[in-house]
Amino acid sequence: MAVHAGAAAEDAKGATSGRYRAVRAFTEKLLEPLSPEDCMVQSMPDASPVRWHIAHTTWFFETFVLAGAIPSYEPFDPAYLYLFNSYYNRVGDQFPRPQRGTQSRPSLAEVRAYRREVDARMEQLFASARLTPELASIVEIGLNHEQQHQELVLTDIRHALAQNPTWPAYQTDLDASSRHQEVNESNELDWIAFDEGVYEVGFVGDGFSFDNESPRHRVFLEPFALAGRLATNAEYLNFVEDGGYRRPELWLSEAWATVQEQGWSAPLYWVRNGGQWREFTLGGLVRLEPRRPVSSISYFEADAFARWAGARLPTEFEWESACQGLSIEGNFVESDALHPQPNPGAKGLEQMFGDVWEWTSSSYGPYPGFRASDDALGEYNGKFMCNQYVLRGGSCATSESHIRATYRNFFPASARWQFSGVRMARTI
Ligand SMILES: [Fe+2]
Repeated sequence: MAVHAGAAAEDAKGATSGRYRAVRAFTEKLLEPLSPEDCMVQSMPDASPVRWHIAHTTWFFETFVLAGAIPSYEPFDPAYLYLFNSYYNRVGDQFPRPQRGTQSRPSLAEVRAYRREVDARMEQLFASARLTPELASIVEIGLNHEQQHQELVLTDIRHALAQNPTWPAYQTDLDASSRHQEVNESNELDWIAFDEGVYEVGFVGDGFSFDNESPRHRVFLEPFALAGRLATNAEYLNFVEDGGYRRPELWLSEAWATVQEQGWSAPLYWVRNGGQWREFTLGGLVRLEPRRPVSSISYFEADAFARWAGARLPTEFEWESACQGLSIEGNFVESDALHPQPNPGAKGLEQMFGDVWEWTSSSYGPYPGFRASDDALGEYNGKFMCNQYVLRGGSCATSESHIRATYRNFFPASARWQFSGVRMARTI
């Protein structure tokens, strides 16, 4: 028995270290198309420089894994504990987020050396007897955390490059047209009906999940229908051309105030040029493809569009209940399209995973019985459960190994620089 238990523990350690190497290497791959200057830019307070993202994810392993594992741990550089802490009050003060782009030191090269040194120290930990199951579970949180920041690297650099009037591409060889041929010509919108009843929602199983996906609990749902696919650019363009952004009756009060204040008249990355609509993608400025899912819209815009279309946003529990039995398939970051792709035109519930995060009408709050842990990692999710809305399903910038049917992403209602879109719902 003891031999088997020992072998199982070695397998678990091997899985943790293997996954660590793979996730960290993927961050390095995302840096390949970027110059050191690209990595310094912070285009708005909500976004961070790439240089900060890759330092901060490293700080996470240093702070929560290495310092926890090794008594009298000596940090790589004590200044980094302040510079690269995001929001964890229980481990110390933080350099102000809106000013991250004002920092040129440590340089990108120094930050990359920091990553290599922490990777070496993590390898020593993996090879030692110090990697307890508790520490391995924090490593897993750190890897999921790094995957979240990988997505932010892509969305934040897209926002930074979009400030440049020459519309530079992150990557020039993106195959954005790969799935066009498969598209069903009519691209009709099917509605998929679901019965009323008591459904179970929230995480169950042995794998990783974040604390905000638990406890699993029951909800009652009235009969509802979900759109069989995501709303498209063509449908959203109809809304724009029907005066959608000029009709207060379609908008929530706070949404209408935001439209006025920000001067919104189309999704964030749409550009009207000589009578033709284009869209700024990670592959540069391209013709607005009508059958692609609309993306980079806020909760406010998703809600107004759905109202204009005679529908509404789904609740997060309608969305999750509809997913039961579906496998996790879709256009994720691994497919290298780095942009939402047209629906292939199959019947049934399509595009639930990948392409774009789907706004729900659910406020981001705690599930019944939720309690954040008492340590610093309890600050990860719980303290943000106010004034944000839940998005589901992952996007073309999300890693496939990162997403689940129970996964809850969250952003303020006005946020629109993510790959965020809309699937309509109806009460029936
Ligand atoms: Fe973070």
